[in-house]
Amino acid sequence: MALTPRFPALLHGGDYNPDQWLKYPDILEKDAELMRQAHVNCVSLAIFAWAQLEPEEGVYTFGWLDEVIDRLWRRGIRVILATPSGARPAWMAQKYPEVLRVTDRYEQRRFGERHNHCASSPVYRRKVAELDARLAERYAKHPAVILWHLSNELSGDCHCPRCQAAFRQWLKEKYGTLDNLNDCWWTGFWAQRYTDWEQIEGPSPLGQTSNLGMQLDWRRFSTAQCRRFVELERDTVKAYAPELPVTVNLMEAFWDYDYFDLSEAVDVVSWDAYPEWRGTAEDLPIACYFAMNHDMMRSFKDRPFLLMESTPSLVNWKPVNKLKRPGMHLLSSLQAVAHGSDSVCYFQWRKGRGGVEMFHGAVVDHDGRSDTRTFRQVTEVGEALERLQEHIFDVPTAPAKACILFDWDNRWALDYVQAAQKGNMQYWQTVQAHYRALWERGIRVDFRDMRSCTDLSGYELVIAPLLFMTKNGIEEKLRAFVERGGTLVTTCFSGVVDEHDLAHLGDTPHGLTEVLGLRAADLDSLWPGETNAMVLEDGTVWPVKELCQLIEPEGCETVARYQSDFYAGLPCLTRNRYGRGSAWYIAAKPEQEGLDDFYGRLLKELPLPAALPDALPFGVIATERSGCVFLQNYSGAEAKLTLSGRYTDLLTGAAVTGETVLPANGVMVLKA
Ligand code: GLA
Ligand code: ZN
Repeated sequence: MALTPRFPALLHGGDYNPDQWLKYPDILEKDAELMRQAHVNCVSLAIFAWAQLEPEEGVYTFGWLDEVIDRLWRRGIRVILATPSGARPAWMAQKYPEVLRVTDRYEQRRFGERHNHCASSPVYRRKVAELDARLAERYAKHPAVILWHLSNELSGDCHCPRCQAAFRQWLKEKYGTLDNLNDCWWTGFWAQRYTDWEQIEGPSPLGQTSNLGMQLDWRRFSTAQCRRFVELERDTVKAYAPELPVTVNLMEAFWDYDYFDLSEAVDVVSWDAYPEWRGTAEDLPIACYFAMNHDMMRSFKDRPFLLMESTPSLVNWKPVNKLKRPGMHLLSSLQAVAHGSDSVCYFQWRKGRGGVEMFHGAVVDHDGRSDTRTFRQVTEVGEALERLQEHIFDVPTAPAKACILFDWDNRWALDYVQAAQKGNMQYWQTVQAHYRALWERGIRVDFRDMRSCTDLSGYELVIAPLLFMTKNGIEEKLRAFVERGGTLVTTCFSGVVDEHDLAHLGDTPHGLTEVLGLRAADLDSLWPGETNAMVLEDGTVWPVKELCQLIEPEGCETVARYQSDFYAGLPCLTRNRYGRGSAWYIAAKPEQEGLDDFYGRLLKELPLPAALPDALPFGVIATERSGCVFLQNYSGAEAKLTLSGRYTDLLTGAAVTGETVLPANGVMVLKA
């Protein structure tokens, strides 16, 4: 099913800010023409247009937007319409300072910047709903409008008295009694026991920073607050056209809110990707990081997503703002598509004349020309999407056989934990290292969190790195998965705490000792630069760093042993046959090469479907979507490979087989 049923197609477009150009009618006239030329078929409008839409309280000026939408529609260009709640007009901050966010040091923000509202301010909620309702009343039925873009890149939290009260209310609903809250927060420690709900405030550098349960709950509450705000906007606009879908644009590796939870509130997942390409072999890990983000976005709703923003050339806000090397724009754009994006959209269509983003890359530069390198590269992407449309759009992809658990609660808990590698537990990086071993082999991977992994039966391999927290009965699900014949891989520092961040009592990994055939003992942490190693029976050595867990085998086979230190010779990689499946325990943190070798060996026994049957050279990645193989070169140099199958490159129509050359940043879309 198309993400945008009113316009079932791959989308190509971007953020368009005509509201900044109302005094330049010639430019506005020219934009729609240039968009056609660039094979742009949609734009995102009004993201920060509140001051133009409601210049004074209660005075609405929609005339300019009517004209813009109609002009675009005449040219066949669709509109993703934003609600402008990402930034407020000055009159509102002046008249109702309560709409401004309060920091965790209890300072109220002043007017300016963006993304800094108080989500519980009744005034802000009312003002947003009023404007949203008027926008929806006017445009929700317009045939050009295909999707709502609610607010922009929601982030952060507010510590004002209203939000504190909302936190306490949320806690009352969760815990019922103060006694229960005190138990779950282990407030016997450091005399923290609460005797009145009113004593509770969120975490602050001026107050509580050491109550793990409370910090976790604040993160969950912040997610709930954000979600409530998104739902307010969603329900307001949907009242006028329930069939018109809504999205919020998410961000990479985002920490503040639980995205599995937040994405339940919207119809379509979309996100903004800004890779910092180097133009060298260093692009490979960067590509892996973005691939993982893309796969997570796809996993949130188990369907395609939209790449809502990316840069057509460069950004302006990094310390070094490098141009994409030739080929990289197409490659990077098609990477998103390969992983499930039904769009390539940009920030931004046209460079503004002023403001901090005046030098951020755009399809149209200050010179207004269409014969530029960027414009040509953008056009090339538009043409590529048109060619791919019939082959991939709404064409199903074979479901993944591998799944990685990635859970926000677990991530926050690892970030808050005062143990092991304190403040540097590297959850994302660890998960990514496992992901990379499969991604480089062209194996499709889904992500699940502990709440959303209700059914693991479709998978053959489940990987749960650093599963520090267990909740939602995950232990039982993993046990049943292995018993039925699945392969589980988990690691040190797993099954340690429960959902309140309270230590499990008894043997760990909690609930998994029988499946793994072992119990965990001491956890050692290595200094930066210090290494140990895993030694396999055949003499292979995999260096490890950071974490080394000691274990007591209780029935598992030992596959590798520690090389050095007082625990030299003790087991560090084990496998346990359980029911019809097996469970692996990686007790230390191998470097990437070791993990790659581990998965290479594992996949010999457990062959999972890969995008291509052929071995690929360094930096060349194959990703399958809809039966097409996206062959991507991130090695920074020309790559030579041999393909055993016969294909057509859908981008050029050329036949591809046997010895094949992929230039640096080259991409092909192969169809058998
Ligand atoms: C974010 C924002 C955009 C713009 C771009 C610049 O993604 O959503 O408004 O600021 O960054 O890269
Ligand atoms: Zn607030």
